[in-house]
Amino acid sequence: MAERPYIVGNWKMNGTRAMLPEARAIDRASQRVMKVEVALAPPYTLIHAVHREVEQIGVGAQDCHPGEDGAHTGDISANMVADAGAKFVILGHSERRQDHGEDSALLSAKLDAALNAGIRAILCCGETLTTRESGNAEAFVLGQLREILPDIDNAADSVTVAYEPIWAIGTGRTAETGDIEAMHGSIRRLLNDTYGEETGSQIRILYGGSVKPDNARDILELENVDGALVGGASLTAESFLGIVLAAA
Ligand code: G3H
Repeated sequence: MAERPYIVGNWKMNGTRAMLPEARAIDRASQRVMKVEVALAPPYTLIHAVHREVEQIGVGAQDCHPGEDGAHTGDISANMVADAGAKFVILGHSERRQDHGEDSALLSAKLDAALNAGIRAILCCGETLTTRESGNAEAFVLGQLREILPDIDNAADSVTVAYEPIWAIGTGRTAETGDIEAMHGSIRRLLNDTYGEETGSQIRILYGGSVKPDNARDILELENVDGALVGGASLTAESFLGIVLAAA
């Protein structure tokens, strides 16, 4: 387990103002678990409200547009999420790659926009079950990352990686611990090769995919697992805090 694990809740397309008490409860309890860095990525509509509600935990966005401003009806720029209180943005989540056809070129542009807006990025990667079963998961995931890792000096301050096998997202299935450790080890070697060991070893690699209070400890104690990106179990303070406490 990392010295200071990073536990991020991704609310996806869930949440109205009725969820604000959950955010407040997560924040208050997290103040007593300073060993763990905790953050929430609510939908755009709640970023500002959650930001105002919390004192300790980080608040982020689930996406941003690559442009600075302009005629893009319905889109939200990195500057706008930063203005609302976001300190990071999740990019390349498999649901956006699948539902919106997001490719590496677009993700690189979004990443540039986020870094220019002064916010960090959580870069998601992960393979389908077909790719896993064909034995090509590692090559696929490393390929995804090679295409989007930014060529910058301060990558450890700006970038977090999240490995999420697509078949484990929202399914109740988690990858075998040996497979998680192997993939995270490969990602670490890629980060070390890309940025040098000093920086590469500091970039956090999160695991995501059906992380729950009852499996979190087994996953978080694996080598090169520095935290978790949590979907369903982040929607109530009770289950999310169960994961935060497992990380402590
Ligand atoms: O961003 C979070 C991941 O997609 C994991 O979602 O915990 O509901 O499987 P899940």
